[in-house]
Amino acid sequence: MRVAVFSAKPHDEHFLRLANEAAGHDLRFLEPRLSPETAPLADGHDAVCAFVNDDLGAATIERLAAAGVRMIALRSAGFNHVDLEAAQAAGLAVGRVPAYSPHAVAEHTMALILALNRRIHRAYNRVREGNFALDGLLGFDIHGKTVGIVGTGLIGSILARILHGFGCRILAHDPRQNPDCLALGVRYVDLPTLLGESDIVTLQCPLTPQTHHMINADTIRLMRRGAMLINTSRGAVVDTPALIEGLKDGTIGSLGLDVYEEEEGLFFEDLSNTIIPDDTFARLLTFPNVLITGHQAFFTREALTAIAETTIANLSAFERDGRPVHPVPPPPAGAG
Ligand code: NAI
Repeated sequence: MRVAVFSAKPHDEHFLRLANEAAGHDLRFLEPRLSPETAPLADGHDAVCAFVNDDLGAATIERLAAAGVRMIALRSAGFNHVDLEAAQAAGLAVGRVPAYSPHAVAEHTMALILALNRRIHRAYNRVREGNFALDGLLGFDIHGKTVGIVGTGLIGSILARILHGFGCRILAHDPRQNPDCLALGVRYVDLPTLLGESDIVTLQCPLTPQTHHMINADTIRLMRRGAMLINTSRGAVVDTPALIEGLKDGTIGSLGLDVYEEEEGLFFEDLSNTIIPDDTFARLLTFPNVLITGHQAFFTREALTAIAETTIANLSAFERDGRPVHPVPPPPAGAG
């Protein structure tokens, strides 16, 4: 199949080429982000391959369908950026990579917790400048603390196992209880209880209409004063201006983010020679107790290998059977 690979970085090209050796799809690597404006680059291709910050709204999908594209192969687990109704109406199949390395994301979440708690981001800079003072670097023992995990699917349950190893008391909030977590002694509670009892709150749920801005001014008010908040799920699960207020009044003691609601056009690019126009993001960067990484939780060799192999398998299955191995189901009739 002829496949236009959008938002292609050197690592995408490397791992997709390796995975494609046997399948032999004709992959064309394109740097631009997919949008209605760049969709014409897909003219003459059977499929597009897209990442998390590509625009797969109705306008893009209509343009892709007009270009003859029949399938969208997502290089991600999340599909909240795809207008599934538009895809269904245009007759485009959508495939995704449901699990590539939940360990990668769980481990990065733990890295944020540890780095923030012991202020490693500040210590690194201080020591390089010959400043060995300890003021402002005081942390706490993770052992014995209560950690609340919102979403105990693949990633959340691995994180629960890691935290269990640290000797934490673990609370969880999820409409589905995970037997692996129950076996570890994780206690399922409602969101207010989780927020009220946790020293560390970490978000591992998908972005859905129910989880959109789940952490907002009202729910932040329920948190234990000075608690740590981590978000490695999707940016819009939190209301960022509300986080800033929570940091300013001390309700949020420290904040670790790998995702940001307005990350499109920001993350995955080198903007070090430009002025960042997003004032909310710029304000977040001024707090000493905020640690932000640019959507890199997934970024391990194992995850990139798995993403590439599943993406190629989705393309091959679609070519052979008209259906990817891991289809994204269209929304139920009447869903909006
Ligand atoms: P999963 O589907 O295995 O687990 C998600 C869990 O969230 C499920 O148990 C589900 O019942 C639960 N959930 C759904 N609605 C909820 C709600 N309203 N409240 C609480 N829990 C709810 O997904 P997985 O693989 O664990 O990934 C979770 C999310 O992590 C993905 O949807 C994606 O947004 C994000 N992610 C971030 C990455 C990064 O690089 N930062 C990489 C991969 C995924």
